[in-house]
Amino acid sequence: MNNLNHYYGLYQQRAKELAAQIEKAIDGEFAAIHCYKKLETLAPTKRERQIISEIRKDEINHYNVFSSIYTQLTGQKHSAVITETCPNNYHSGIDFAFHDEQETVDFYLTIADSTSNDFIKESFKRAAMDEQNHAVWFLYFLKTQR
Ligand SMILES: [Fe+2]
Ligand SMILES: [Fe+2]
Repeated sequence: MNNLNHYYGLYQQRAKELAAQIEKAIDGEFAAIHCYKKLETLAPTKRERQIISEIRKDEINHYNVFSSIYTQLTGQKHSAVITETCPNNYHSGIDFAFHDEQETVDFYLTIADSTSNDFIKESFKRAAMDEQNHAVWFLYFLKTQR
């Protein structure tokens, strides 16, 4: 009985930690959705604007998937808050986005590794692949900026 309580306690603690990580992920997606709207308007070419718009659609999709996972897990809805500031200048903006995407890949893979729930694992792995792809685009924009 004591052992069972012990494992139940650990399980509850892990569920809490996972919920906190997903809250952070939702906030990050929410910030990216707003930031990329700004970068879209600052983009120097139509092609870059289109790519950023596609990237932004991926972030909206991540936001929706993570929000629904959070609700299934906690029975509550998380109200996203923006904690990051998005630069007002295009070059600083894409530099910021590149680093943010790279860090997000690591963060999502950590979440994927920490859960045995297949749906959550696959959702975060899939999102990590998207973020890696986004990082490459932002790096390309940085390199071709004149
Ligand atoms: Fe994302
Ligand atoms: Fe992204």
